[in-house]
Amino acid sequence: MRKEKPIQRYNALERMNHWVVAFCFILAAISGLGFFFPSFNWLMNIFGTPQLARILHPFAGVIMFAAFMIMFLRYWKYNLFNRNDLVWAKNIHRITLNEEVEGDDTGRYNFGQKCVFWVAIISLVLLLASGIVIWRPYFAHAFPIPLIRLALLVHSLAAVGLIITIMVHIYAALWIKGTITAMVEGTVPAAWAKKHHPRWYREVREKQQEDKP
Ligand code: HEM
Repeated sequence: MRKEKPIQRYNALERMNHWVVAFCFILAAISGLGFFFPSFNWLMNIFGTPQLARILHPFAGVIMFAAFMIMFLRYWKYNLFNRNDLVWAKNIHRITLNEEVEGDDTGRYNFGQKCVFWVAIISLVLLLASGIVIWRPYFAHAFPIPLIRLALLVHSLAAVGLIITIMVHIYAALWIKGTITAMVEGTVPAAWAKKHHPRWYREVREKQQEDKP
C-alpha cells in the first residue's frame, strides 16, 4: 500500500512565532527561578550577569506575551471545549497507554492541549498585569506597597503554574511520537493525524478534495 504524504500543520511563520515564545519563556523562567530561590541564584547568569538578568527578565516576558497573543488570536477557535473532550478526559488513562478509545473523535487539538492553551493565556495575562505593578524603576513607584506585595504573590503563583504546565507540554510534545515534527518541520505523519486527531484528519482531507481542480 502507498504511504500517505505527511500533512502540513504549521507554516514557517507560525513555527517561528512559537519558538520565539518558547525561547523567551526559557529566558524568563530560568532567570525568574534564579531571583526566587537563593539556591538557584546562579541561574541569573543566563543573561550574562545577575544585573542584566534583572533588567532583561521583564522585557523577555513582554516579548513572550506579545508573541503568544499572535498564537492566541490564531488558535483560540480550535481550543474551544466540546463534548468530545469529555470522552478524551474520561479515558485519559487509556490514551496515555496508547490504547484505542471507542467514540473518541478528537479534532485539531485534544483536551490536554486545550488545557495547556487556556492555562498559558490566563497565566500570561496575570504575569503581565502583576509584572507591570512590580516593574522597577519604570512603573512600581505608581502603585501602593500593599498592591505591590499582592502583585508579587500573583506573579510567583502564575509563574509556578505556567512552568509546571509547560513542563507537561514539553513532555507530551517529545513523548508522543510524531508530534515534535509539527513544530520543527511543520508537518505530521498522516498516521499520527489519523490516530490522535481523527476529526482534524478528515477535515484536512475533505478540504484537499474540495481544492482539487
Ligand atoms: C520550550 C519548549 C517547547 C516545546 C518543545 C514545544 C513543543 C510544541 C509542539 C511540538 C507543538 C505542536 C503540537 C501539535 O500541534 O499537536 C506545540 C504547540 C503549541 N505550543 Fe509549544 N512547545 C514549547 C514551549 C511552549 C511555550 C513556552 C508555550 C506557551 C507559553 C507553548 C504554547 C504552545 C501552543 C499554544 C501550541 C498550539 C497548541 C494549542 O493551541 O493548543 N509552547 N508546542
